[in-house]
Amino acid sequence: MENQLRQIREKALESLAAIEDSQALEQLRVQILGKKGELTGILRGMGKLSAEERPRMGQLVNSVRSEIETALEEKLCEIREIEKARRLADEAIDITFPVEERHAGSLHPMNLALDRLMEIFVGMGYEVVEGPEVEYDHYNFELLNLPKNHPARDAQDTFYVDDNIVLRTHTSPVQARIMTTRKPPIRIVCPGRVYRSDEADATHSPVFHQMEGLVIDEGITMGDLKGTLDAFARQFYGEGVTTRFRPSFFPFTEPSAEVDLTCANCHGEGCRMCKGTGWIEVLGAGMVNPKVLEMCGIDSKKYTGFAFGMGLERLALIKYNIPNLRLLYENDLRFLTQFR
Ligand code: FA5
Ligand code: MG
Repeated sequence: MENQLRQIREKALESLAAIEDSQALEQLRVQILGKKGELTGILRGMGKLSAEERPRMGQLVNSVRSEIETALEEKLCEIREIEKARRLADEAIDITFPVEERHAGSLHPMNLALDRLMEIFVGMGYEVVEGPEVEYDHYNFELLNLPKNHPARDAQDTFYVDDNIVLRTHTSPVQARIMTTRKPPIRIVCPGRVYRSDEADATHSPVFHQMEGLVIDEGITMGDLKGTLDAFARQFYGEGVTTRFRPSFFPFTEPSAEVDLTCANCHGEGCRMCKGTGWIEVLGAGMVNPKVLEMCGIDSKKYTGFAFGMGLERLALIKYNIPNLRLLYENDLRFLTQFR
């Protein structure tokens, strides 16, 4: 029996040394110490021993058992450490690993500028209306006091669809459409795309956006026009923006003016973008020509009005300090994602 015990002990310690995971360890524990285990078998056999031998063998079995139990426990601790280290290694996260960035979309600077413009003018009581981009010559020119062969037609090099239909060269035809269909008081803004066979450069594009404004009522004056444009400029650019009104000519307004803002690129120093002047022209405006009012069926003795047409790209350039209008059309994400 003693021999058997020694064998069990040696075999146990030997197999223990080779074990590397907790499952195998548990199997070994059951195999030796379990109900049907080897050591338990020996304890059962003790009944057959003589009364003298029994205590000595009992002691021996107990000491072997506690030795094996201690060894099992130590091994268990060891294995837990190993398994923990293995898990940490397996589940390690490389925080320097490059991840795929997810971009939420952002508004195009033109849309940002347009949204702000609408907000300002709707805040001043204007209604937003739209008109067609493919337009009758009648609205684009005739009703605006630009009869066929009028030299001022050349100022807006026109894309003709046919003799009577053009791609609108400005948003002013929407004025004519509204004046022929509504009675004053009228207070509208009309944003939209316009087309001219202009050469593309830092401040010109053959396709661009304008926003027309039209106010018609009794007693409207040039002072109302200036006050409105000043209020707009202060809200759109903040206090301290410099506007410059220049006398100008449009067949559909009398008197007429053009309004410039300080150049976004050189801040007035003079550069290529502003052709050395320090100013960028952003809009044309004036008092609606009485002849236009009459052609559109509005009594010019009773009513007066003002109108303006803003170049939206130019307004955006100056608002966001963009040095070249072409950037607005190139769809370069490095540029576009700066506007969030
Ligand atoms: C007109 O188009 C007039 N219809 C404006 C107007 C409306 C005057 C109502 C009076 C009453 P003009 O051609 O100057 O005017 O253009 C107006 C603005 O559009 C310019 O000040 C400029 O900001 C912008 N613009 C003109 N051409 C281009 C272009 N090729 N690319 C980008 N912006 C342009
Ligand atoms: Mg002009």
